[in-house]
Amino acid sequence: MKTTEKIGCGLLLTALLAFDVWGGDRLPAYKDAQRPVEERVEDLLQRMTLEEKVLQLNQYTLGRNDNVNNMADPVGDIPGEIGSLIYFGTSPELRNRLQYRAVEETRLGIPILFAFDVIHGFRTICPIPLAQACSWNPELVKKAAGVAARESSMSGVDWTFAPMIDVARDGRWGRVSEGYGEDPYANAVYCAAAVQGFQGDNLAEGPRMAACLKHYVGYGASEGGRDYVYTEVSRQTLWDTYLPPYESGVEAGALTVMSSFNDISGVPGSANPYTLTEVLKKRWKHDGFVVSDWGAIQQLRSQGVAADCAEAALKSFNAGLDMDMMNRCYDAHLADLVRAGKVSQERLDDAVRRVLRVKFRLGLFEHPYTPESTEEERFLRPEDLAVAEQLAAESMVLLKNEHNLLPIEKARRIAVIGPMAKSRFHLLGSWAAHGSGEDVESIFMGLEREFAGRAELSYAFGCGFDGEDTTGFAEAVSVARAADVVVLCLGEKANWSGENASRSTIALPAIQERLAREVAQCGKPVVLLLTSGRPLELCRLEPLSAAILQVWQPGVRGGAPAAGILSGRINPSGRLAITFPYATGQIPIYYNHRQSARPHQGKYQDIPSTPLYEFGHGLCYTTFSYGEPVVSCETFRRGDRITVEVDVTNTGSRDGAETVFWFVSDPVCRISRPVKELRHFEKRLLRSGETGRFRFEINPERDLAFVDEDGNRFLEPGDYYILVKDRKVKLTLVE
Ligand code: GLC
Repeated sequence: MKTTEKIGCGLLLTALLAFDVWGGDRLPAYKDAQRPVEERVEDLLQRMTLEEKVLQLNQYTLGRNDNVNNMADPVGDIPGEIGSLIYFGTSPELRNRLQYRAVEETRLGIPILFAFDVIHGFRTICPIPLAQACSWNPELVKKAAGVAARESSMSGVDWTFAPMIDVARDGRWGRVSEGYGEDPYANAVYCAAAVQGFQGDNLAEGPRMAACLKHYVGYGASEGGRDYVYTEVSRQTLWDTYLPPYESGVEAGALTVMSSFNDISGVPGSANPYTLTEVLKKRWKHDGFVVSDWGAIQQLRSQGVAADCAEAALKSFNAGLDMDMMNRCYDAHLADLVRAGKVSQERLDDAVRRVLRVKFRLGLFEHPYTPESTEEERFLRPEDLAVAEQLAAESMVLLKNEHNLLPIEKARRIAVIGPMAKSRFHLLGSWAAHGSGEDVESIFMGLEREFAGRAELSYAFGCGFDGEDTTGFAEAVSVARAADVVVLCLGEKANWSGENASRSTIALPAIQERLAREVAQCGKPVVLLLTSGRPLELCRLEPLSAAILQVWQPGVRGGAPAAGILSGRINPSGRLAITFPYATGQIPIYYNHRQSARPHQGKYQDIPSTPLYEFGHGLCYTTFSYGEPVVSCETFRRGDRITVEVDVTNTGSRDGAETVFWFVSDPVCRISRPVKELRHFEKRLLRSGETGRFRFEINPERDLAFVDEDGNRFLEPGDYYILVKDRKVKLTLVE
């Protein structure tokens, strides 16, 4: 009998059991979909042996592992009782074969949970999350997550290791590309949007996949921007900076959390009872489960807190880490640790209960198999490509536009130069799952289509991404001289950011800057178009460029929106979610820093102390004027609600989308607070001449309060300021 026939029989048997044709007493409670999840969990748990429980707490891999940072021997004969598998396939057949082994050929028939890193798309690759954060459009981010969930779940994936919500302020750290920038509130809002998009409205029916909040916690504080290293994070900073996105994700219903590699001030994130149990499970009452990062348990040895894998397993498990991702520690030692009384039966059952609960919630017992489908049915649908293109358009940030060079309307000859001009694969960025360069529309392709019949394009490669080869300069100079305007496409390779991709400088390689100088000397206006997974050091490139457009790594459909912005078809609306330092030496530099003892002293002697482009920066092709903010009441008492409104007028000749950022400032507090903190934002299209009223509904306990080192929020009497654009209003709490 072929596997598909077996699966058919399995489906029939599952259906018959579900319809209980042999009388209710024969259907075990855990297989009865009519019963509450918690009842099914308890029924199944008490049927399980110690060995079956331990296997549910392990994750192996299935398929060809192409993650160069995590090469390990695959487990040969995968037991059907395994809890989860990282699935590298792009169609459900292999997944269904293993699922058949679990459901039909094991004693209890517990389905396997199949996972994969779907960070910004499965095959329809959207912009990297750092770019998405610059769209200030959480609804669109949610939609993109929904596209990823559909393609993934149709391919056999039930669980993604996303969203990554590590607040990051050091562009040297390659993983800054994977999160939503430097601000805790922005990461919290985008986290909730991504969780809702991934998990959908109906967990049990799909298309959906379990979300995973990662990397819990403080990974973005990696010392020196190096990866996998020590992070010095005080309890105060843990609560006011790194934990808020995770609390938001738990509130949004994320089913899982991934523990981090980093050592959190001496206690690694993967063996940290305070974060894993006290905060996540007791304070926030998260009832899903925690999976380790790849190898993070056995890495406790190199971090100096475990002598061997048995001790690593003991420390991680008792700290609250439920599932072992490819450490081979829990499968090897957990049963013995339980038998030796070092791990309690209660703690073991708690972890297994959490894993089973997620599987029941995902409907895996009722729908263990993924229906077969064609690639055309699964991938790259026009409506999904449209989402990717819209998000790319809204993520791009116009950093500079001297003398309104853009949009290009009169030029008849456009020279397109540089290593990124025709690159396709590198526009996908890191963690591009099953994305293919063949699917990508390059910048040049977008420009060709956009300016067809309006301008003549010429092209020169100019130089490579790095290296010393200047043989392409002459041709670049030649096409620049013959053109009216130059579009210089520079940037990073996809693997220069992401995991294990730290760089000592955020400047582009010297060869690219040399090309820019050669081209600039031709005297033609230069539009610098940048592709990167991190903020870049532009202090030498900025003076050479009349305009600068940061396109990030826009995914499969970046060419058209980039060209559309250059032509004026699209009015750019992106605003930076991360600061662009003037130079690497300023790092860390971010907008929500605490106050200095001497704000007007202590500056660098050799470079400016302000960033080149600050958080929230972004230009467009129209102008907006802000009225004076109006507050519903200037003094308030605890429990009151306050409304602040501001009128914004599009005073330009073009329709455009404006993002209004609302910040809170509390200049005097028992704990020194950041100079300002983002607490609300709203993006809205305003027609030319239109005035829109933007409102911030303030709940003081939520929006004005601060948090202390024990995670307790507090609201002190006194003055607070609400900042919007360059205006502010004072609010006073009176007892
Ligand atoms: C990696 C990453 C993590 C990823 C996991 C599985 O090392 O740190 O983000 O989800 O392993 O690939």
